[in-house]
Amino acid sequence: MSMTPAYPKAFWSEAIEVGLPAIDGQHKRLFDLAASFRGEGDQIRVMKTLATLCDYTNTHLREEEAMLQAIAYPDLSEHKQHHIRFRRMLHDFLEDSRSMTLDEIADRAEALINGWFYQHILTVDADYVPAVKAYEARKHALALARPPLSVARDTGWPGFGSDGLSPAYNPLPDACC
Ligand SMILES: [Fe+2]
Ligand SMILES: [Fe+2]
Repeated sequence: MSMTPAYPKAFWSEAIEVGLPAIDGQHKRLFDLAASFRGEGDQIRVMKTLATLCDYTNTHLREEEAMLQAIAYPDLSEHKQHHIRFRRMLHDFLEDSRSMTLDEIADRAEALINGWFYQHILTVDADYVPAVKAYEARKHALALARPPLSVARDTGWPGFGSDGLSPAYNPLPDACC
């Protein structure tokens, strides 16, 4: 049986909010899912919850990576390596779950989310927050500074698309998913 690294178990709280509502909502949802294993008492329901946990984790990791790609985060490849490790742990968990008791499954889900993932949010995720916030601030400042569309087109304002179309008028895409 593959093992999940041991970390002290912790619960979601505002103390681990990163201040990006979309990301915080996804993190909290994963803690809620991990908490829902305990006492389910039904093999089918537990396996369904496990599948949901794996799916939703993948959604979160994918959207977080897309957000970091959008802001050209310099440590993206290193961050992705952490996510790859997490995906591997989830994959092993799914494989192992076939021969685990319901209590063991609940323990392993908590070890992953309340242990490993909690630490990931506090350290690796927390590292990208200043970069995302700086990007959002820049985008906001650009939006305030930009001239009306017609003036931008006539004056060749830098944010305006070179093809004369407007989509590039706002040169910075949304960072947050
Ligand atoms: Fe992450
Ligand atoms: Fe995250």
